[in-house]
Order: sequence, then structure tokens, then C-alpha cells
Amino acid sequence: MSKLANERIVYFNGEYVPESQALVPYRERSFLFGDGAFDLTRTFKHRIFKLEDHIERFYRSMRALRLDPGMSPEEMTAITKRVVEENIHLYGGDEDCWVGQRVTRGVLKVEGDNWNHYGPTVIVECLPMPVADRAHYYRDGVPVVIPSVRRTSPDALTPRAKTHNYLNLIMGDLEVRAQNPNGWAILLDRDGNLCEGLGSNIFLVRDGELLTPRENFVLPGVSRQTVIDLARELGIPFREADLDLFDGYNADEAFITSTSLCICPISSINGMTVGDGALYGAVTKRLIDAYAGLVDCDFVQQYLSKLQ
Ligand SMILES: Cc1ncc(COP(=O)(O)O)c(C=O)c1O
Repeated sequence: MSKLANERIVYFNGEYVPESQALVPYRERSFLFGDGAFDLTRTFKHRIFKLEDHIERFYRSMRALRLDPGMSPEEMTAITKRVVEENIHLYGGDEDCWVGQRVTRGVLKVEGDNWNHYGPTVIVECLPMPVADRAHYYRDGVPVVIPSVRRTSPDALTPRAKTHNYLNLIMGDLEVRAQNPNGWAILLDRDGNLCEGLGSNIFLVRDGELLTPRENFVLPGVSRQTVIDLARELGIPFREADLDLFDGYNADEAFITSTSLCICPISSINGMTVGDGALYGAVTKRLIDAYAGLVDCDFVQQYLSKLQ
């Protein structure tokens, strides 16, 4: 297949190729079983955000999955920087992108097969973020809905590793969106406590204290940790805790965090307005300002500017 004019370049098993040429065999274990790990950061003003933290988390995920990428974190970092260099010209001055790494356990080898690559599949890519699709969440807030599906329990598959197994979260998301296309699924953990969503962690604010579910039950988000660090710097009391729906319904403020969204306010939980309905409560506002300062990018405006 010939390369499109502005086709993105991806790192694929040792080579930098146009995305359309990065093809994996159908007996790839990640295609068959979800047997792989990944990590995802973003750029702010074309600068990669906390790449080191993401690479560290990535290697922790791979270690937990007994996955060997066949390269060091330093090599993975250098490749990631090169992939951004190869593609950043495709993004306008006020645009940013996701930057991700993927490693799988490779092809399921069977007798008589003839693939041209064995061993781990290694992919490093950058791709557009759905800014326009999500812009309204910064105007209206995120309507969180709790699906019946519970988050995979840590004693079944650790949520602290970022794996290619997202079906649990996807099922929760589909259940919620079937009822409210704008709804954002936040799953409960096995004990009925608020846990996390598809690509996002959750925070509550009550009586000036910032609260978030315990790390054991969630993916330790890099944006989650960024908010925790900023809260400490700002002197905002913070605690990890088991937070159930009663805590959610009685929160003064609430927001979700993720790499692409950074901090996005929650408007309601299961249809119950959060606090007095003020979307950008005092603590949320202070953290958003601090986060924007840290990344030198007014991300709320970056989203709102995409609203029709
Ligand atoms: C299940 C899950 N929880 C939380 C997050 C948020 O993590 P981060 O802040 O690093 O994007 C993600 C990110 O993709 C995720 O997939």
C-alpha cells in the first residue's frame, strides 16, 4: 500500500514505517488474547508530558505481565522522542497528540507458520486526541454513571498494569452509553467502592479535603499522581480512601483525571448533581490552574475552543 501524503509514521518492530504498513499477523497474541501492555501520554505545546513517568509505569506493567520488550527503557524513550519528531509537523500550533507504546507477547507460534517476525511486537505511535468530541465536558461537566459491571478485582487481574485487556471497562462504558450517550462510566470495585473508568481516575472533594480511591484497585494514573503532587504543593489536604456512592452523592466537588483530559469536572453522579452544582468548585479550580501552569498550557481553553 502506497504511503499517503501526510500519513503518520509509526515505530514497528525495529523500523519507522507509515502506519498502514504496520500490520500484525492474525495469530498475534494480543489480537487473540489481549496479551500485551501499553502506555499513553500526550504532548502539551508539542512537548511530551512526563515521558519518564509513563515509561516507568510501562515497564512496571510489562514486568507484572512477565513481558520482555527486548529493549531498555532508555531505548524505548529515544524511540518515542523520534516518533514524535517524525509526526509533530502534522499537528497545528495549538494542537497536541497522544503518544503511546505497545508491547505484546508476539505471535502464537504453531507448526508450519511462516510469519516474518517472532518475539515481542513493539509499537510506538502518536495519534490525535478526541478534543472536539470531548470539549462539551468542560462546558457541561461529565455526567458520571455507575454501571452494574464491577472493575476487575486485583486478585483476578491487577488494575495497576496497563494491559491490552480493556473489555471489563469497555463493557461498563457500553452499558452506560446505551442509557446516556454522554454518560461517563465509573465502575465500582468488588467491595462496591468508586473505582475508575475507561481511561480515567476519579477524585472527590469534601469539606476542603481531596479524596481518591486507593491505588490497589486502580491504574495509578500519571495525571492522578500529578494532581496529588499539586494538592500537596498547594497545601490541600489529601487522602486515598474507600469511597462509596454515599461519599459520591455527598461530595462538594468531583472530577476525573486522565492524560488527555488532565482534570475535568463531574456535573453529576447517577443523575445526582454534585455539590451545589457549581462545576468548577474552589478546590477543582485551584488544581486546574496549577495543572495548567505545570504544563504551560490552558487545557480547558484548548478544549473549549473546539466547541461549535
Ligand atoms: C483504567 C485506567 N485508569 C486510569 C487511567 C488514567 O491514567 P493516566 O492519568 O496516566 O492517563 C487510564 C489511562 O488511560 C486508564 O486506562
